[in-house]
Amino acid sequence: MKILLFVIFLLISVCKFAFSEEQQISDEQEIIAMGDIEYGEYLGSECAACHHQSGASEGIPSIHGMDAEVFVTLMLAYRSKLMENPVMQMIAGRLNNEQIGSLALYFSKLEPPK
Ligand code: HEC
Repeated sequence: MKILLFVIFLLISVCKFAFSEEQQISDEQEIIAMGDIEYGEYLGSECAACHHQSGASEGIPSIHGMDAEVFVTLMLAYRSKLMENPVMQMIAGRLNNEQIGSLALYFSKLEPPK
């Protein structure tokens, strides 16, 4: 019985290692955990100039009510230039992890577009 438990434990550890996807998810959760929602509100006023609550306007998607992890993933993708939009690359490039986490908390709590 003990051996069986040990084997299961080993399998779980190997799986955790093998799926690097898992690692990425926890990176994002770590970044969100650094965030402060009031700081996010302060930083987010700049974003509202382009990202309107009402939804997509002139090719700019609404980010209100976006899932916090998705938000972080997208911001990291712009910062690392995996995603190509030059405006968002510049904006994300100026933000550190704490600031991205704060923005993720703030925007995920807002009312999504109707
Ligand atoms: C000058 C206008 C402008 C400003 C200011 C701006 N954005 Fe953007 N943002 C865009 C555009 C345009 C896109 C769409 C880019 C694309 O198609 O990849 C975008 C896309 C995004 C996306 C991806 C949305 C999606 O559904 O794919 C996120 C997240 C985002 N912006 C966050 C922010 C945050 C946070 C700020 C403030 C710190 C901000 N943006 C400020 C123009 C702007």
